[in-house]
Amino acid sequence: MSNFNIAVVAGDGIGPEVMEQNINVLNKIGQKFGHSFKYESVLGGGCAIDAYGEPLPQHTIDVCKASDSVLLGAVGGWKWDTLPGDKRPERALLGLRGALGLFANLRPATLHEALKDACPLKPEFVENGVDIMVVRELTGGMYFGEKGRKQTDMGEAAYDVEQYSVKEVERITRTAFEIARKRKKHLTNVDKQNVLESSRLWRSTVLEVAKDYPDVELDHLYVDNASMQLIMRPSTFDVIVTGNIFGDILSDEASQLTGSIGMLPSASLGEGSLGMYEPVHGSAPDIAGKNLANPIATILSGAMMLKYSFGLQEEAKTIEDAVAKVLNAGYRTGDIMSEGMKKLGCKEMAEAILAEI
Ligand code: IPM
Ligand code: MN
Repeated sequence: MSNFNIAVVAGDGIGPEVMEQNINVLNKIGQKFGHSFKYESVLGGGCAIDAYGEPLPQHTIDVCKASDSVLLGAVGGWKWDTLPGDKRPERALLGLRGALGLFANLRPATLHEALKDACPLKPEFVENGVDIMVVRELTGGMYFGEKGRKQTDMGEAAYDVEQYSVKEVERITRTAFEIARKRKKHLTNVDKQNVLESSRLWRSTVLEVAKDYPDVELDHLYVDNASMQLIMRPSTFDVIVTGNIFGDILSDEASQLTGSIGMLPSASLGEGSLGMYEPVHGSAPDIAGKNLANPIATILSGAMMLKYSFGLQEEAKTIEDAVAKVLNAGYRTGDIMSEGMKKLGCKEMAEAILAEI
């Protein structure tokens, strides 16, 4: 019997409803395998702005830091869209990533056999399957670089500095190589070294780290080409390592290969076992509170938490298998619906998954 303390930042929009289902699933796993999960809900994002006037209260950071891991739903919404950059709900996410030192963002894009119809590519493009792990650097680059406004001879200008240190590139590259070692031993580095100085340092650092991983095949793509190759030959990718902004963009692209962004979980990891787990999708204010959201990305993020923060491999696999069974049985939420399938709401989808655990 193990006890785990989990900080829960359900957030805004569909965040709370997908999180509720995630917790139901985790509790069932707890019962089945004899673990106790204790949750502490804290505010982050738009709801924290409404309650405290700031997206990421210190209390939220403290509770997250003191926990064994953090579950996050989604943040943001129309209501807060006109606030200045440092007051926006997204600050909660960026602030937590920074405060918890979560530099490695793992975003697996897997096309389930049963969802081949939901993939927008022609069947011949995905006949060999899609199983890609995007490893995105999460606490550097232009997201965290110096930013500001200034007057230029072209009038007002704004800037966000893209900067990477050797140390930052080294640690994310090592994470990616270690993951590749446990998969198909193929790592693709994505950068823009033909243009960007930061990418040239990135590339040379990746090549240096690669000397320690002779068993892993390494190749390199410029980000523009990578976005094209992901569509042309998705089956040939295994692990992708890239910087913060490129990883943000490419992981959304990769999500579409799986049928819907509603399927993609993520893990954000640092040096220790504390991690933050969240769906790749956003708060989807247009469908919030209507029981229409796909809870699978969040539920699979819960499985990633069990695997990466708690070392509970079998428990994680139980969730992944339950999701696969439900999809194989033809159950779908609206975002992955196709002809002849049975359409379920958010709650009903989670109940179907629960029934398989
Ligand atoms: C993501 C999101 C965030 C990001 C936003 C909401 C700050 O798009 O997790 O991919 O850009 O990192
Ligand atoms: Mn994104």
